Amino acid sequence: GLKVVTIGGGSSYTPELVEGFIKRYTSLPVRELWLVDIPEGEEKLKIVGNLAKRMVKKAGVPMEIHLTLNRKEALKEADFVTTQIRVGQLPARILDESIPLKYGLLGQETNGVGGFFKGLRTIPVLLDICQEMTELCPDAWLINFTNPAGMVTEALLRYAKHKKVIGLCNVPFSMTQNLAKLLHVEAHRIHIDFAGLNHMVFGLRAYLDGKDISQELLKQIARENSSIHIKNIPEFNWEPQFIQALGVIPCPYHRYYYKTKEMLADQLQQFQKEGKTRAHHVYEVEKELFALYQDPNLQEKPKQLEQRGGAYYSDAACNLIDAIYNDKKNIQTVNVENRGSIANLPYHSAVEVNCLITKDGPKPIAMGELPTSVIGLVQQIKSFEVITSEAAISGDYNQALLALTINPLVSSDETAKKVLDEMLEAHRAYLPQF
Ligand code: G6P
Ligand code: MN
Ligand code: MN
Repeated sequence: GLKVVTIGGGSSYTPELVEGFIKRYTSLPVRELWLVDIPEGEEKLKIVGNLAKRMVKKAGVPMEIHLTLNRKEALKEADFVTTQIRVGQLPARILDESIPLKYGLLGQETNGVGGFFKGLRTIPVLLDICQEMTELCPDAWLINFTNPAGMVTEALLRYAKHKKVIGLCNVPFSMTQNLAKLLHVEAHRIHIDFAGLNHMVFGLRAYLDGKDISQELLKQIARENSSIHIKNIPEFNWEPQFIQALGVIPCPYHRYYYKTKEMLADQLQQFQKEGKTRAHHVYEVEKELFALYQDPNLQEKPKQLEQRGGAYYSDAACNLIDAIYNDKKNIQTVNVENRGSIANLPYHSAVEVNCLITKDGPKPIAMGELPTSVIGLVQQIKSFEVITSEAAISGDYNQALLALTINPLVSSDETAKKVLDEMLEAHRAYLPQF
């Protein structure tokens, strides 16, 4: 049997994972699931942990659920470690999403100023976890959902000794589901060649039953003025002629780059009218979820979890673990070292790309080059990720200012400095390196 450790086990997303492991128990026998959290998260850990125990009992699978605040004890001899932490918890996300608005900049969890600060807080913690894994479970795979997942993967590939690291996101999975719906076919008939970076991934080509339908699909997206949606991002449609000219399918997060003005106006309006950011909304959803989780009669994942942007991420996570454990050699989209799969990005960069998933981990599949229309933006974001990773470790102020200023969503060095100073102060408790 397998030992899986989930760091950030008190997260409201945990029932997703538990459900995923229960469904797959015959092929993926997770004997021990260790849910780990920090003292501040103990209350949530107990509530989620007890729900997990009820779910397992109801399903009748012999999976032991362990709850602990002792990360090192949990990591001993683990086979798979998943991470879903939020350093500073939701109050930190509220700061990330609201302070930039004062400066006329987008507030977003993983993009622009918000993503930058989330990276600074998160990278050192993930490096510590990797260090502990090297000592306590050197053969285990780390599957990181912690955002910003792309930047975290980049940092770990560069600076961690532990090399069995995979970054994971539900966006490619959700895009495939969305496009299948658009085409009125079942998702398993659709195959998409995904390539790019996390939350900056493109569908380069699309296939239906093995036939290349890329051109027709782009036309259809343009004609029906339809977009690919995900719960946490406002559903603004694309300019049809722009999409056709772009030539590849953008992900929902590209709205922050190609519709910056509209997205900012929308955020400002919500904030001025109701004083709310997405983080505030998530706060409400979490309150509702934890109230439900406490109901001793609840024995399964509640429907309300689908209001979160990461809904169904367990399918992505469990499919990945299943494919490694069972050497399935199927194709999944994950964040790994490029190794030539995207020809016009550096060999050692972290990318989000289709991989063959084997018992030795993901093998990136050759996708060719990203087109001229998108490679510039992708490279700029990669530079931003690399310099932010360096700053997260060095705590160097100038490097931090550089990273923030070169981000395409930050349009001035002076504004960058002002927002940097205010946010370094606001997040001080979680930025000991600065
Ligand atoms: C998407 C992303 C996740 C992100 C989530 C935010 O699914 O892929 O990386 O964490 O949305 O959702 P939330 O409900 O927290 O706003
Ligand atoms: Mn994601
Ligand atoms: Mn390398």
